[in-house]
Amino acid sequence: MKRDHFQQENYAEKKRLREHTDSPLPKATHKGGFFVAPLVKPMASTEERLQDLRNRKSRSEMGGGQERIDRQHKKGKLTARERIEILLDEGTFQEIDALVEHRCRDFGMDKDIIPGDGVVTGHGSINGREVFTFAQDFTAYGGSLGEMHGLKICKVLDMALKTGRPVIGLNDSGGARIQEGVASLGSYAEIFFRNVRASGVVPQISVIMGPCAGGAVYSPAITDFVIMVEESSYMFITGPEVIKTVTNEEVNFEDLGGASTHGAKSGVSHFSAPDDESAIQLARDLCDLLPQNNLERPPDKKTSDPTDRSCDALDSIMPDQATKAYDVVDVISEVLDDGAFLEVQADWAQNIVIGFGHLGSHTVGVVANQPKVLAGCLDIDASDKAARFVRFCDAFNIPIITLEDVPGFLPGTSQEWGGIIRHGAKLLYAYAEATVPKLTVILRKAYGGAYDVMSSKHIRGDYNVAWPTGELAVMGADGAVEIIHRKRISSARNTEQERQRLTDDFNEKFANPYTAAALGYLDDVIEPNQTRSKLCRALEMLLDKEELRPARKHGNIPL
Ligand code: HXC
Repeated sequence: MKRDHFQQENYAEKKRLREHTDSPLPKATHKGGFFVAPLVKPMASTEERLQDLRNRKSRSEMGGGQERIDRQHKKGKLTARERIEILLDEGTFQEIDALVEHRCRDFGMDKDIIPGDGVVTGHGSINGREVFTFAQDFTAYGGSLGEMHGLKICKVLDMALKTGRPVIGLNDSGGARIQEGVASLGSYAEIFFRNVRASGVVPQISVIMGPCAGGAVYSPAITDFVIMVEESSYMFITGPEVIKTVTNEEVNFEDLGGASTHGAKSGVSHFSAPDDESAIQLARDLCDLLPQNNLERPPDKKTSDPTDRSCDALDSIMPDQATKAYDVVDVISEVLDDGAFLEVQADWAQNIVIGFGHLGSHTVGVVANQPKVLAGCLDIDASDKAARFVRFCDAFNIPIITLEDVPGFLPGTSQEWGGIIRHGAKLLYAYAEATVPKLTVILRKAYGGAYDVMSSKHIRGDYNVAWPTGELAVMGADGAVEIIHRKRISSARNTEQERQRLTDDFNEKFANPYTAAALGYLDDVIEPNQTRSKLCRALEMLLDKEELRPARKHGNIPL
């Protein structure tokens, strides 16, 4: 709908701009280090000055010109301004720095000045809430980042931080502007510094809508969420040609750093979308879920879904055999308001599921082990994925719901040598340091260290309950019996019978939630159908929770 309207409007707008830009600007002149296009004439009338201003704005609006705009469209990509138009509520975009120009004198750049310098910056609203944005304009110098282009982005980041508003960056750039050399690298670093300063203060979202190569990838990587457009965006540190020279590997752009690679293999991106428009829509949806900054709570989303709704389907979701899988996303959808769940990093480390939804109108973050993949074991990638998500939720006052069914950490040399100790510790650290409301439901297995890690009472879970199918123990019965009863089994007349007897005995004692409930490690054992109503009540009770940690510069999370 919006797109059709946009295309019609855009056609009229382009026509208007072409008419304006028919009167070319006089050549720029060098003035005290800056190149400033002169006025039409020194003693111009008000009318002429007005016309001059319009010409300048029009030139800026046309970026690299119609031919390059057409080229951009032919690639199936929108221009920077078209993208901003979709991102923000209609008519709310307020541009800043449209008249900024680069001050490079080398390589004929003094004759090639495009006002705006290849990036459109400003602010506007998303469903009525103000955000800052920048959109790199590939039609102007390939969206490459020179000194002034970079400083425009810095200004937006500074203002977002000052005013406590999210920043959405639309990236489409050939990287460091080669003609500007180290000045370009300097501006990149200024951006990185600001991304870090704003981290945990205002939400930062990066949408990758074209090339993003070399050190340029580090700005999106620092931001909270990366959304990539399928088949037209890529991110990598070194491109296919350098890789071929150095390692002799042959790989194309898409396989090396396209949306599917970063969505499923590297975990660099959080979402992918088939085209520009849906990628931007995702950024809008995400903003709707999040607070404007770390001092606010996320906005409520009213629902008619009753908080005391019985989740009857959950009573029969658990297979009778403890080794059988089910899809934990079905549990999540059953519990959340209106069954709506925005999964984050859905294709990477699928043994853990993370994402956002609402519970009793309040935004919540969900972390859930996925028994369908690797039996829900925690491994290196799953620990990293969930740890960063938990920290994001904690930074932005989003309560965390943990649904637990975890047989433990994944065994194997690749995990041990890859540093599962270090990575698993991140998740433990993230949960333990989080002070937002933490609500945990043990659906089935909660074994070993994973029991402790997954928001247990001991690391300050606020509301911890289990279904009657919960199994809380150091390890599964088979392994445990082999270790503690080895001699007894081997000396038994019927070893199999004795093993089975001891296993049953262990299961009866430990493969249930009642030992933990008796110790107060669980606040309750609940019927699965009560999961939503119990969580909603507990969340309501915990919303104003306050919990302090000792003052310090920062902790030392095992990175
Ligand atoms: C200046 C650039 C540019 C750059 C592209 N252009 N990249 N200008 N600096 N880095 C210009 C081109 O000259 C061209 O200008 C226009 O943008 C479009 O480029 P094309 O090559 O015609 O487009 P396309 O065929 O789509 O190819 C896009 C591309 C290619 C793959 C991005 O341009 C490219 O490889 N560019 C160089 C990428 C690069 O190596 N960047 C440095 C990465 S290292 P005209 O006038 O013809 O329209 C890096 C380090 C950052 O960024 C470190 C930060 C810490």
